[in-house]
Amino acid sequence: MTNATDNTPLPTPANPGPFGHKLRSQFLFPEDFTQFNHGSYGTFPKAVQDNYFAWHHRTERDPDRWMRRDLKNCLTMIRREIGEFINCDPDSLALVQNTTVGVNTILRSLEFLPGDRILQLSTGFLSVYKTAQYVCDTHKDVKLIEVPITFPMTDKEIVDAVEKTVLDHQALKDGSRIRLAMVDWISSVPSIVHPVKQLTDLLKSHGILVFVDGAHSIGQVPVDLGYLDPDFYITNCHKWLFSVRGSAALYTKKPYQNLIHPTAITGDYGNGFDAEFQWMGTNEYSSLMSIQGALAYRKQFGEDAIINYTHNLAIEGGKTMAKILGSSVLTPHDHQVGNMVNIRLPFKDLLNPKLASPAYLMNLLMDKYNLHTPTFKHGGNMYTRVCAQIYLELSDFVRLGNVWKEIVDEINAESN
Ligand SMILES: Cc1ncc(COP(=O)(O)O)c(C=O)c1O
Repeated sequence: MTNATDNTPLPTPANPGPFGHKLRSQFLFPEDFTQFNHGSYGTFPKAVQDNYFAWHHRTERDPDRWMRRDLKNCLTMIRREIGEFINCDPDSLALVQNTTVGVNTILRSLEFLPGDRILQLSTGFLSVYKTAQYVCDTHKDVKLIEVPITFPMTDKEIVDAVEKTVLDHQALKDGSRIRLAMVDWISSVPSIVHPVKQLTDLLKSHGILVFVDGAHSIGQVPVDLGYLDPDFYITNCHKWLFSVRGSAALYTKKPYQNLIHPTAITGDYGNGFDAEFQWMGTNEYSSLMSIQGALAYRKQFGEDAIINYTHNLAIEGGKTMAKILGSSVLTPHDHQVGNMVNIRLPFKDLLNPKLASPAYLMNLLMDKYNLHTPTFKHGGNMYTRVCAQIYLELSDFVRLGNVWKEIVDEINAESN
């Protein structure tokens, strides 16, 4: 693979180019710490922190000038930059704090009627599931329909499972209708890149509104909303794009914008989608503004270079760790991996009390090894999710594989 703009080869784990350990000093990590879990909370380079501080200082120098005069124009500029980045009309974007807020914004704005059903994949994120559950609990005869998904599955098997659920529901002929579907682009645990285009097209062909949970998408995979054409889409910029925590972009297709209102109603209620989301009450807006710094930081490398490096590092890193552990990665299909890879932890006895909750392993990893990778059970096995990022190299995955081998061997020795 070469850079889209010239003929220089893109960075790979074997030839990291500008990436790898030489970038560590551009981030805020202490010397003795390696971040293997970028996916949960993200982090940002010092250059973005500087940009964030600059916006913060601009606010504090003269709060009235900022809040009353400059803020809205600056947020519009950010929406324009994101719109260009993900190929959508910036007027269809609202900047919100995070995916949880974005999901609440849509689900709690739409008017659900008796007989409405909300479809979800079982791999959906808990807060998304709970928000949909809340909608069901607060509306008469609105219910969840879950599509069971257990990996490994091919894209076709996922699409077939969703189609079967839709067709089975239609066959009931009970007067209910699937009104909205929540579709993960990249699920959290297990982390899998879903066939989001096929799912969106399929669901729309059945007259179902599609809300794509792209919490992990911007900065991890190329995003083209013009091509995907969902009804609603949310993405965290503070995960993979490198902006400061508390920055996300919510897309709402034009015909639905008059139905959607922020989770906190302000004096701009009734003034239209744009106005309602440009002012969400007195707040610190610098994290949203730091999206500018994040986009500028990424530009020096180019999106193709970042995505090629991190994706291939996840693939090779996952295989390397699986080899050390004598196990396997969850999916044999590399395109189902973004930057996060799930490696099976070959524990002999999953009923060992130490594995009953993630707490024991989390504390052991943090206290003894000074690192963290989340663990989870799926399809009768235990996995850990490891995140590739531009500041990591393959040697980090070797070290992590050996840490996990030590832990697995120690716990397995108790089962002998
Ligand atoms: C798939 C998915 N959806 C939603 C969320 C919630 O994101 P946030 O905590 O930023 O609101 C996450 C968080 O990791 C996620 O992985």
